[in-house]
Amino acid sequence: MNQLSPSTVPAHVAIIMDGNGRWANARGLPRAMGHRKGVEAVREAVKTAAECGISYLTLFAFSSENWSRPESEVSDLMGLLKAFIRRDLAVLHKQNVRIRIIGDKTNLSGDILPLLLEAEETTRANTGITLVIAFNYGARDEIARAARQLAAEVAAGRLEASAITSERIGAALDTAGIPDPDLVIRTSGEERLSNFLLWQAAYAELMFIPEFWPDFSRDTFVAALSRYAMRERRFGGLQPATTLATGS
Ligand code: FPP
Repeated sequence: MNQLSPSTVPAHVAIIMDGNGRWANARGLPRAMGHRKGVEAVREAVKTAAECGISYLTLFAFSSENWSRPESEVSDLMGLLKAFIRRDLAVLHKQNVRIRIIGDKTNLSGDILPLLLEAEETTRANTGITLVIAFNYGARDEIARAARQLAAEVAAGRLEASAITSERIGAALDTAGIPDPDLVIRTSGEERLSNFLLWQAAYAELMFIPEFWPDFSRDTFVAALSRYAMRERRFGGLQPATTLATGS
């Protein structure tokens, strides 16, 4: 299937799926077509991740800043996400995929929230890959919500301020229980994190690849995993904590 050794496969890969609009522009197509093609790339990425032995795949589907796009584009993106859950949930469930949603779930209007909750609920007991969909997600907003939650516990006398550790903050984030990403990939050549997993990506390997998201194929994904396998991760120490390529 591929030459990846299980010991070098990251447990958690997070992807900023960028470039749908430019992919469409380059072909003289409406931006909506780029997003539509992007959904096909999502399907292929989930399949590839599961086959390669990745345990968690996080996809940045809609940021808390994306609401500022033209109404028609927001509506296209909502429509695609809803259609994806309606059409693909049964298949993903059958493939033992567990779905988690991160992002602010309050104040969502329409039928998107019930669908997101249904996806989480239906697949809660699955034991295969966890597909984490970041929707209405912004890392600073996530951290601020966690801070408010912890502050409320302190105010109520249930928590000592001195007990607020990194672990406690991590447990108050939307990603509670999910290991930090080992690898963050961004497509389309842009080299920034754009408010994605700022806390969790503290020690992640970052990879910026030139392909637009709709062109992110199985081969592109496997090539990125092979490049990851060559990286040395030191987590702030002097010696590599893992020499991925040798597994030592
Ligand atoms: C970035 O391209 C992509 C997005 C803002 C949305 C990604 C959404 C999908 C692929 C579809 C729905 C998601 C799932 C999980 C089914 P861009 O529009 O910013 O592209 P540009 O930078 O070239 O304009």
